[in-house]
Amino acid sequence: MQNSTRKPIVAGNWKMNGNKPLIQLLEDSLATADLAHLEVVICPPFPYLGMFGGLNALGAQNMSQFDGGAHTGEIAASMLKECGCQYVILGHSERRAGHAETNDVVASKVKKALEADLTPILCVGETEEIRDSGNLFAFLAEQIDAVVQEIGVNEFSKLVLAYEPIWAIGTGKTASPAQAQEVHHFLREHLAKKNSDIAEKIRILYGGSVKGSNAKELFSQQDVDGGLIGGASLDPEDFLSICLAAKQ
Ligand code: 13P
Repeated sequence: MQNSTRKPIVAGNWKMNGNKPLIQLLEDSLATADLAHLEVVICPPFPYLGMFGGLNALGAQNMSQFDGGAHTGEIAASMLKECGCQYVILGHSERRAGHAETNDVVASKVKKALEADLTPILCVGETEEIRDSGNLFAFLAEQIDAVVQEIGVNEFSKLVLAYEPIWAIGTGKTASPAQAQEVHHFLREHLAKKNSDIAEKIRILYGGSVKGSNAKELFSQQDVDGGLIGGASLDPEDFLSICLAAKQ
């Protein structure tokens, strides 16, 4: 079912992939279609952020929880903003698992992003073990509540959520549309208990092996407001067909 108040987003997370030629190929592909009904966000590795021609919204894949100073190799929210970023992916499972990002670290990054006027794309998602153990919803609620505690629920009006089941990332094993809808509905209801208006308006993206071939069915679910795309965002044609699958 459609919801006219929530403009869909399709965001491409290149991860540590891509190269300069891909920027042009992707922009050429996206320029062939009318994509006014959605927001297209490209999140390339940091060095490429300044190389896009302005066709898309830009997002970073991570940022520091600090404002600046002696943090070699880190990048501050204010710097991303200066470089033209509007969005920043925070709490991606690859950051949580590979870079020791706890719920508290993620929450403080969300706060810093908002202070810099960036829109966080806050990722949550469970391992297969957590899903099988029956603790799925408690686990996801904890990931959300750590951020609510840090910034307050009203600030969620400035956030985008992404549900990315870890077992579906890069595995080719997509959540079924019903599985995605079940979790997206849970996330919206969880927020609705704190603020129903914000819960109704927040965009919740699905991520995990989305492709041109399965995007339409996933995006047609009532509480799925677009996608966070990994592998398929590196294929200009497939990425375009995912954008075209977003709700009109
Ligand atoms: P894949 O689309 O490659 O499964 O990756 C999803 C993801 O992690 C996007 O952030």
